[in-house]
Parts: sequence; C-alpha cells; structure tokens
Amino acid sequence: MPIQYHSSTKTFHLYNDSISYIFMILENGTPGQLYYGSRLSDKEDFSELLEMKRRANAPCTYEGNLLFSLEHLKQEYPLYGHGDLRYPACSIQKENGSHIFEFQYVSHSIYKGKNRIKGLPAIWCENSDDMESLEVVLEDQRTDTQLTLYYTICTHLPVIARHALILHNGHSSITLQRMMSCNVDLIDDAWDMIQLSGAWSRERHVSSTPLRPGVQSVYSMRGHSSAQFNPFLALKRKECSETAGECMGFTLLYSGSYLAQVEVDNYHVSRVQLGIHPDCFEWTLQQGESFETPEAVYVYSEHGLNGMSQAFHTLFNHHLVRGTYRLQDRPILINNWEATYFDFDEEKIVRIAETAAKAGIELFVLDDGWFGNRNDDHRGLGDWYANVSKLPHGIAGLSERIHAIGMKFGLWIEPEMVNMDSDLYRAHPDWVMIDPDYVPCHGRNQYVLDFSRREVVDHIFNMLDHVLDGADVNYIKWDMNRTMSEVYSRSHSSDRQGRVMHEYILGVYDLYERLMQKYPDILFESCASGGSRFDAGMLYYAPQAWTSDNSDAIERLKIQYGTSFVYPPSCMGAHVSAVPNHQVFRNTPLNTRANVAFYGAFGYELDLSKLSDEEKEEVRQQVAFMKKYRHVFQYGTFYRLSSPFESNETVWMSVSEDRSTAIVGYYRVLNEVNVGYRRVRLAGLDENAVYTINGTDQATDGRELMKAGLVISDYTSGENGETYNGRNGDFISRLYVLES
Ligand code: GLA
Repeated sequence: MPIQYHSSTKTFHLYNDSISYIFMILENGTPGQLYYGSRLSDKEDFSELLEMKRRANAPCTYEGNLLFSLEHLKQEYPLYGHGDLRYPACSIQKENGSHIFEFQYVSHSIYKGKNRIKGLPAIWCENSDDMESLEVVLEDQRTDTQLTLYYTICTHLPVIARHALILHNGHSSITLQRMMSCNVDLIDDAWDMIQLSGAWSRERHVSSTPLRPGVQSVYSMRGHSSAQFNPFLALKRKECSETAGECMGFTLLYSGSYLAQVEVDNYHVSRVQLGIHPDCFEWTLQQGESFETPEAVYVYSEHGLNGMSQAFHTLFNHHLVRGTYRLQDRPILINNWEATYFDFDEEKIVRIAETAAKAGIELFVLDDGWFGNRNDDHRGLGDWYANVSKLPHGIAGLSERIHAIGMKFGLWIEPEMVNMDSDLYRAHPDWVMIDPDYVPCHGRNQYVLDFSRREVVDHIFNMLDHVLDGADVNYIKWDMNRTMSEVYSRSHSSDRQGRVMHEYILGVYDLYERLMQKYPDILFESCASGGSRFDAGMLYYAPQAWTSDNSDAIERLKIQYGTSFVYPPSCMGAHVSAVPNHQVFRNTPLNTRANVAFYGAFGYELDLSKLSDEEKEEVRQQVAFMKKYRHVFQYGTFYRLSSPFESNETVWMSVSEDRSTAIVGYYRVLNEVNVGYRRVRLAGLDENAVYTINGTDQATDGRELMKAGLVISDYTSGENGETYNGRNGDFISRLYVLES
C-alpha cells in the first residue's frame, strides 16, 4: 500500500520506491508536514521530525506551553489566525469580517486509483493500481465548514498530486479570498529556484536563483497561464545538474491566472504554494455550496533535472493526455500561416497542400483568415463560417479536396475572441468582457468574450459544431491571442465579479470538453500567440501545443530546451519555416531547422513550392526520416546534455523505451576557428549494448558512449583548408542515430 495511516501517531505516509511524503495530525487537530523527499522506511512514529522550540515573540497555542507555535511548525494547509504569520494556503472571510478559521481533523479515506475533478483538468489512471489516493476531511465547527485535502501518489512515478475542496454548510455565507491548491513546508532553504519565463516569441527561457528569506514567485494575472511565467517552479540543490543530484518540480494543472511561490521564513523553512492567483479571485459560498481548486503536481528527483523532467513527461503522456492521440505518433503537418498569412484562396491552399502531399506530409492545417470577413486582424473573429469569396466551396468543400489529395485536414480557430467588426459583436455587444464605463483596451484589435457566461459558450459551441459537422476535420489549432485586461462580466452581480476569471477558464475547459466528446478523433493543438498557454491544464484537452511563434531554429533551441523541463516532446508543436526567418530574419540551413523540429510534434510552416528541387528532395527525406523515428523523438526518454543558455553548443537526445535506438541532436550556434576536441557523454543507453552510429560500421558500446563520450569534434573552419559548403559555418547541426 503506497499510503499508510498510523493511527497511534495519526501519521500519514505516502510512499513508493522513490519518494516519501509524511504528515501527521498535530495536537491542535490540524495537519502538520514532517517530510517530503527521497523514500524513507515506513514506521509507526515519525514524531522526531516534528521539531518544536521555544522562540521569543512566537504566538503560542496552549496556556503554559511555550513550544507549540504554528509560527514555526511545518504545516499542510496553513490558515491565518492561531499563530502562523507566513502566507496562508487559504484565506476566508466570515460575514462578521473575521478571517479566523480552524480546520481540524475529522476523518480520512484511502483508496486505489484516483477520482477525476469535475470541470477541471487532473491526472487520471486507467488501471487503479497505478495510483493511490487519500482524502483528509477537516472541519471548522464554528462555521460548519469542511475542508478536504486530496492527495494522490503514483505507484511507479515520483509524483504526488494535490488539491483542496471547501464545502460550506453553515447558515451565514463565507467568502474565499485565497485558496491555493497545495502547500508544502520544506525543512530547509538550501535550494536554487528555477523558473521558465520570457515573453512572446521567447517563451520558457530557463533562469535560476538561490532562495533567500522572503517570497519569490512566478505568476500570471493575464487570464492565461502566460509566456511571461510558466506555471512551474523547481527547487534544486546547488550541486544538482541535469544528470545527477536532488531537485523537485511543482506545476499547476491550470490555464488561467495563477500564483506559484516559495516563501523562505526566518527559520529557513521553504514554503511552496501553487494555486489560483488570489488577486484575481473572490468566491462567496452560501450554505451547501462548495469550491474545488485546480490540481497541483509535485515531482521529486534524485537523478538531476533530467530525472524530474522525465517523470513529468511520463506522467503527462500516460496520465494527463486523453483520447485518440494519447501515446500516438503525431501527424506531420503543414500549416499555411507563414506561407500566406491572410492572403490565400482555395486554389492557393490546394497547391500548397499538393506539394506537401508529394513530400509525404500527412496533415494540412488552414490557419487564420478562412472565416467571416477576416482579411486582416481587424475583423471577423466571432464569425465562425467560411469566407466564401476565398473558399467558394466552404470548409466542407476544401476539406474534401484536401482529403482527395491524401491528406488529413485541420483548421485554426480562436473561439474566445471577437472583433468589434463582426456579426457576432453587432448582435451581442454585451458579450465582451469590459467595464462599459471606460474605454477598454484591445489586444491585436480584438476583445475577450465573456466565457464565464453559459450562453456565450453555448453559442460558440453551436457555431463551431455547425462547421465541424458538415466537414471532415481531423485537427484543430485553438488559438487565444490576447491577454485579459478588463475582467468584468456584465451578467454577474457585484458580489460575483471575483469569480469571473476562474469561471472564464471553466468555460474554456467546458467548450473543449464538449467538442472533444462530440468529435473524439479530432487532434487539438492549443496555442496562444505561440506559447502563452503552454501549461499542463491544457494538455488534458489538447495533446499538443504550439510552442512559440518564433520558428527560428536557433531561437527554438532555448525555447524547446526550457519547455522540456516540464513538457514532453510529443506535445511541443515544432515546425520548419522559411528563411530568412520571419521573426529574427536569420538564415539557417534547412537541415538544422528540421534537426531542431524533429524533437517535437513535427511540421512545416512555409510554401514548399517556393523551394528548389534540391530542397524539396531534402524535405521529402526529412519527412521519411521523421516517419521512421518519430516514436523515438516524441515518446523516447529525453535527456538534456548541454544547455543553450550556457554554451554555444546545445546537445540533447532521445532514447527509445527498449534503449535499442537513441538519437542525439547536436547544434552549434556560431562557428569557431581551430577549436579543441569535443566529446559529449551520452545518457540513458544500455551499457552493454553495442550501438552503430548513423548506419556506419562504427560500433561502440553504451558504456563507452556514456563514460568516454561520443566524439563530436569536427574541423569545419577555414583554417583546416575546408571551404564553406553551407553545412560548416554558423548554425550547423548534426543528428547521430545510434542503433543496437
Ligand atoms: C497566433 C498564432 C500563430 C497564427 C496567428 C494567426 O499568433 O500563434 O501561429 O496562428 O495567431 O493569426
């Protein structure tokens, strides 16, 4: 049993082969944290880990007892009042204005498997042996309010999932002002915090800083999880590297405004919390009403940051993604956005698709501009019916032609948005989320529909259903191209405005769920101006996400490297685009563009008919190569070996599950003259297996490749008498295919 309850000490021990998570019910009836980390042997009593000391100025709980103070006890779900003066997990106001609550242990239950969370993403299991769950019910008797803490531990992964639910049974109302999904008080602060931050087109860059007393956080108040800060943080020991050492990662399965913070207190305890951002949230509960938080997931690794990432990848591939494309190879697609922008018609589209089909590409995706009066980004959003001057046979007719060429057909939508110049806006101006007393901000000339309103979501569903029902659509790219700036719902009373941001996301999830249920074979790819909503919550609905609008191969090294900290290659949309690149105007070799994009949900984003015959042949070979190895690229165990944030050379690799195939990607940004010899020590191979490299008869055993390293020295500078050949200057890359 991975979850033990020791009744004599009221101690809960969640453990598997690699981790332990231990807490107990304290003297005052509230749960206190004892330990989270590497697996410990189970025993009845861990109370030696409950450290208490008399400390000056501490608010003490019991008369005559100067030891028991919540100010310096580690807790599971701390509240304001009763002495804890750090950030609470939960802050609730009563009608009398008081924020003092005390949730004390009532009961618990332990069961195999895991329950889903209604209306919210959550990890799940088909086989109940894969997970075990614990629910601890606590109660504040004075207000007749229950708090349930939910825990799940994976049997074979170093993963714990948590969330919380409040059920109010009292007569007078209570108002939630902060309700985090989790809290964990770690015993020390000797950690560096890693975050993935950036902006449009430079999403999820890795940065790291030592913890210090006070609060360090990442967050979004933008209504989506954002390119600015991904809903993730990791703590690593100073000596922890990619391949060795202790670290833990925390993420939230949520796509809206969130807060993830670490507070280091004055006794060196690090308090980690993740949840809905409290500044965008207020939720009043009347008698009989409840509120459930999104789910947070913790991963612990003693095998470096790669170990942490691999656990997230396996968890998400197996226990988060759902539906037809779960664990399935992703179709190789071509998207027309950078090929045409808004300037296309049916014939142009079919021509692009035909060239792509000849190269072996499997799916054609029609991007923005196919609907309403959408000829630029000032109009048309909200009018989800084909623009017949561009597409005389509508979506049904076009999809038929694309299928006739032998390709699947995909469509871009941005269902949460509206332009003022649209039929939808003219019919329902009050569906836009603005405060009508002020001039609202637009973002890319568009406004946010109020998805906290059921009738809005219903209307959009019906429009999309109409398009999908009549056409053979196999894929949808669901975009979201602005942040929210005036979150105000004209349908909500003043005391319900604090719900709007969260209800908006529930509306988005609801629309996804309805479309998924009705069209189970459609592959969804989420997108938000590139990677502004690349979060684990979205993966529950959309198995892949557009990683970034920045399609330059060299920029993508950093973006994909950072993204891989949490998210598996199977879900990272990665395309080969034209040169000069449209974002940074850089010229990179065609093979480098593919060598980067292979490690993802691979595709093209250019008009192949504009390439030379030689380049077309190269594309054909790339597609064939990807088809042969895509399972290794998308579902292999991914190792980061050399970081683009620290080096001119990036190296990463994917290893097949049976370790018989591994593909190493080597990328060098700038060429250097007369450099030293270079080797890269590989990882994850079978040490006893003999691998051939790139189909040559060079054969080396796995141990040598991991200990002595793969020789990657080259002599590609003019000093060696070489001449420039397009593959030996800047931005070069090589793939090494190792097969045993
Ligand atoms: C966003 C997406 C792009 C493209 C455009 C279309 O920016 O990230 O990939 O779909 O919208 O307007």
